[in-house]
Amino acid sequence: MNETTRLPPQRSRDGTRLHGGYTRILMIILAAVLVSGTATLAVAQHHHSHDMSAPSAPDAREFVKFPPVLVEETLANMRDHLQTLQEIQLQLGMGHPDMAAKLAETRLGMSSLGLHGAAEVSKYMPQGMQDAGTAMHRAASRFAITAQDASVTGDLKPVFAGLAEITAQCVGCHAGYRLK
Ligand code: HEC
Repeated sequence: MNETTRLPPQRSRDGTRLHGGYTRILMIILAAVLVSGTATLAVAQHHHSHDMSAPSAPDAREFVKFPPVLVEETLANMRDHLQTLQEIQLQLGMGHPDMAAKLAETRLGMSSLGLHGAAEVSKYMPQGMQDAGTAMHRAASRFAITAQDASVTGDLKPVFAGLAEITAQCVGCHAGYRLK
């Protein structure tokens, strides 16, 4: 090893690079504090939503006025949607994609439209909300086909991708609209 290649480690001993190292560590600590600060803020906001006396966080969702009975029916349907996702995941975990397919089609897919009284509620929905609903039913029916295929091929990867596509429709509509 000649003098030139040994130069950088020698320089580090005079503090120059050490200082750079401290700066980097400080930056990392600062970033960590910022990230955990954001997390704390998220927790605080979460708590606020349960504390009715606290001022609520700004809410950009569009309020959609449903008749009160339909609000309650819709929320009950929503809870069924969530339970269906849970049952689908359970079936996939047990290695039964065919059962997951059936759940998705009958409870979330195009076949579920009658079940949820979709025609009745859709007339109170702005176009964007109707489209989000249709996109969810379509995603669920596509998932059902993918999951049915997987019961033959054994390849679950596209099934999980399809499940994420369904969930993305839930997330998308929730981000845009509220009933209360
Ligand atoms: C077309 C729009 C739309 C789609 C698609 C949608 N939701 Fe909702 N969901 C809503 C609205 C609007 C609310 C009421 C939110 C509010 O008023 O704060 C809601 C509320 C809920 C609630 C709360 C129910 C309660 O008792 O308060 C759950 C749980 C839920 N949705 C689950 C789901 C799941 C799971 C999916 C996807 C499989 C889904 N939703 C798809 C619009 C949608």
